[in-house]
Amino acid sequence: MTKGLVSAALCATLAAGSLFCEAALGASESANIADPAVAATPPMGWNPWNAFRTDVDESRILETARLLKELGLAKIGYRYVNIDDGWAFRREADGRLRIRTSTFPSAELGNGQTSFRPYVEKLHAMGLKAGIYSDIGRNTCAQFWDANEPNQPVGSRLQREVGTYGFQKQDALLFFTEWGFDYIKLDACGVADYAASADLVKKGRFRAFMPLILRDRPAASDAAALEKLYADFSRAAQAATPSSRPILAICAWGEADVADWAGRYGNLWRTSPDIDKTWATMLRNFDSAAPRALFAGPGRWNDPDMLEIGNGDFDATHLTEARTHMSLWAIIAAPLILSYDLSRSTKELLDIVGNPDVIAIDQDPAGNQGVILSRDGDIQVLVKQLADGSQALAIVNRGETSRSYAVPLTDLHLDATAPVTAHDVWQHRSYAISGGQVQAQLGPHETLLLRLTGTLDNPDTVYLSQMPARVRVLASGFRPTDRGPERPWVPARLGYLPSGESAIRNGRPDRKALAVAAGARIEIALNGEFKRFHAVPDGAGPLQIFGDGRLLFRADGTERIIDVPVINVRRLQLVSPPANRSGSLPYGVRVWHEVSLIKQDADLASGRSRSAATRRP
Ligand code: GLA
Repeated sequence: MTKGLVSAALCATLAAGSLFCEAALGASESANIADPAVAATPPMGWNPWNAFRTDVDESRILETARLLKELGLAKIGYRYVNIDDGWAFRREADGRLRIRTSTFPSAELGNGQTSFRPYVEKLHAMGLKAGIYSDIGRNTCAQFWDANEPNQPVGSRLQREVGTYGFQKQDALLFFTEWGFDYIKLDACGVADYAASADLVKKGRFRAFMPLILRDRPAASDAAALEKLYADFSRAAQAATPSSRPILAICAWGEADVADWAGRYGNLWRTSPDIDKTWATMLRNFDSAAPRALFAGPGRWNDPDMLEIGNGDFDATHLTEARTHMSLWAIIAAPLILSYDLSRSTKELLDIVGNPDVIAIDQDPAGNQGVILSRDGDIQVLVKQLADGSQALAIVNRGETSRSYAVPLTDLHLDATAPVTAHDVWQHRSYAISGGQVQAQLGPHETLLLRLTGTLDNPDTVYLSQMPARVRVLASGFRPTDRGPERPWVPARLGYLPSGESAIRNGRPDRKALAVAAGARIEIALNGEFKRFHAVPDGAGPLQIFGDGRLLFRADGTERIIDVPVINVRRLQLVSPPANRSGSLPYGVRVWHEVSLIKQDADLASGRSRSAATRRP
């Protein structure tokens, strides 16, 4: 894998510390090739899988497309109409994929060839976008997990190999250049489930593929090989679409540490196994994405999977649960992909998925994923900084009994002596906050979702939790070998250690803390807007701070405070050393408290932007 230019420059700068530098970088360090311009906000649309699985056809999808328009959903953002598993008929001898024309009749060209072009053009003519599905391996998920469901690929073993493995360039040209798709969901069962020992493989139904993903066992999986496959496909997709690039949705279910590196190649990536129409799987999937605020931003989104609103525990008889599901996806800037039968939608469900205030929180242009402020038993609080200076606050009751709860305005960096207004986006009412705290009375499974407008108590200081979208985790550093679904590990977090415990300062949880795995490297886009970087080390050991590739400061770990001038710096990098067993923190973890940036003086900043403006032609 090629190393990025920035990392090469860093190592050169660090003559004396080059060993440290090399150790801090490592194999996953590579140039970013995802295109941030596509999916500038989380993708929104519809996918048939949760409602119909493989039992889907063109008329059903086009009917849904019509409904998206007629019901006003397209207008408020639900534009990607995606196909999931079940469209591929077979791969021909020349490698070309053939479409199942019994379910997609418009694909029949009459000359022995099939093409999705007419179907895609129909969607485009409706002002919608079109998405397709494939797999990074040789075979798809439904071929393995839904083998008895309809619409499976047919023919010989080779003809049934409809995944992209070995055909990345050819398939990318077909999907994007020839057929014109705007989005692809690229699944991973082909590199996970077709081991020589699998029943269907032993029976000769499929060719064996030595698994790169061992489910629930990230340390035993071959993340580097998986990363290379997705990187190669991402490049093939870009080469096939020189002008408007497709959205790449990486669907490897949070396995093989995919959520740590997928943002370099894709625009969204699944962080967990498939959602089901149950409250428990909805929360599980939310919990897999919620701690990963530092990985998301415009063009790159954590994906806890498609919405189940309209199905099972979130159907028209469970509107509280449906509202909570929607609130949770919105506060963490998750993609909003509907996946229920819109022809059976009720007005109440449409009011939920079509609530413009909730969608505005999800789609906020700053692209900040909400961060977890606290968890107190079944009550969880998240806050999302919005582009206009307001913040979204979600107070969630995950439990079965009613609860009341209060969030102090000071926890939101708001001046409690100045007026603060709350807009309740589900109740459609605004009110003034009094008593210095936001009060919530929550029934079982209920969420209070507010948009809060007030005055910041310290307007010159910006904490990372107020701009997580500006952070990129460039290298993940140390990973414990026993990580996995039961022991998740998030290499860079705010307020919590990578292992999930609270970061503690003076005996209390510190939500202003930045905790990273040893050896991690993060970059913060300062864009010349700040004058000082500030942090309080906590037995954290050394830290190197680079501004635009130049070493600004080398902390040896004995400082009481780190306070570094960053005037005019556009990109700040924090490089933590690899693990060692000394220090007060758990092995492999580094924590800095009060991590903040002090804004450039208003007059200087505006002076600079004025002069920049005059330089423009
Ligand atoms: C996997 C994916 C699902 C769906 C199915 C299709 O399970 O995670 O979202 O695409 O495959 O077979």
